Amino acid sequence: MKRVSKCTGATMCPVRLQSTSYSPLKESWNATSDSNLFLLGCIMSKELLELMKRVKVQQYKEIPPLKLLYETLHEIETTLHYGRSRNWDILVEMLAMYHGIVKQTRYLDLYHYLNELDLLNAYTTASLNKPWDYLGDIFLEQDLAGLGQNLTPKNVVDLMIEMTLPKPITKIQTVLDPCVGTGRFLIETSLLRRDSPLILFGIEINIGLYRACIVNMKMFATHPYSIICADTLRLDPDITGPASQIWDLGNRWDPPDMSAFFWKPPPINPESFSLKAFTETKQEEGESHG
Ligand SMILES: C[S@@+](CC[C@H](N)C(=O)[O-])C[C@H]1O[C@@H](n2cnc3c(N)ncnc32)[C@H](O)[C@@H]1O
Repeated sequence: MKRVSKCTGATMCPVRLQSTSYSPLKESWNATSDSNLFLLGCIMSKELLELMKRVKVQQYKEIPPLKLLYETLHEIETTLHYGRSRNWDILVEMLAMYHGIVKQTRYLDLYHYLNELDLLNAYTTASLNKPWDYLGDIFLEQDLAGLGQNLTPKNVVDLMIEMTLPKPITKIQTVLDPCVGTGRFLIETSLLRRDSPLILFGIEINIGLYRACIVNMKMFATHPYSIICADTLRLDPDITGPASQIWDLGNRWDPPDMSAFFWKPPPINPESFSLKAFTETKQEEGESHG
């Protein structure tokens, strides 16, 4: 059965006519029985297409945010035919466009098409009603996580925030997630301490997750924040504190070079590490401290 949703003008298309409802998630008409399903070759008018779009958009209002995001991902998959990881990156980019984080995209036709379907707006509305890191959920469910990229479940995130952040907070306090991932700790901190004077900082080494994080933060954070794309272990703590200029480089789709803020000389890394040299250094330190 040919799909009709991507026709954009008066076109010869097979149409399914029946009295049952349209399912935006399956992009098909739900048939109650085969007997009431038949094909009719006819001219699809713009009016009919518009009507179908309105039915679809109306139904989005009842769909949870995660499903809407999957529906958007499905449209990306069926339009571009890339692999799962690239599709997820494009999903993030489409949302970044919608929220003004990027001004241009290579996938402009796709962006217009998703907007025609009202998917980005529908997801935004639905997720703002129930804010959460849905991008991270899809990242995990699609098996895109590499080594060390397990995101923390919501109930654990919330418990840890309640255990570590006082309530109420009266003086300005900074919160840093040095391995921020898609930003779920910072989002939840912002939501659970909505009325507290917080400033949120995040560092993420992986550019895909970093970008998802800045989309999430733009959508859900209720506090000032700066997320940078960098290797936390290479940042010199003496020059990267809360007042550092490094935080002026945050929240950018294309992150700038951060090397001016690296340790000099570099700290021990796995390649340069030697147990003998490390032991000798520790012994020397012990002797000099008496
Ligand atoms: C286990 S995930 C946790 C993400 C998030 N904090 C959470 O709990 O959901 C660890 C994240 O840290 C990032 N990461 C690993 N090493 C890093 C480093 N040296 N600097 C910055 N980020 C790093 C990984 O890419 C990954 O997104």
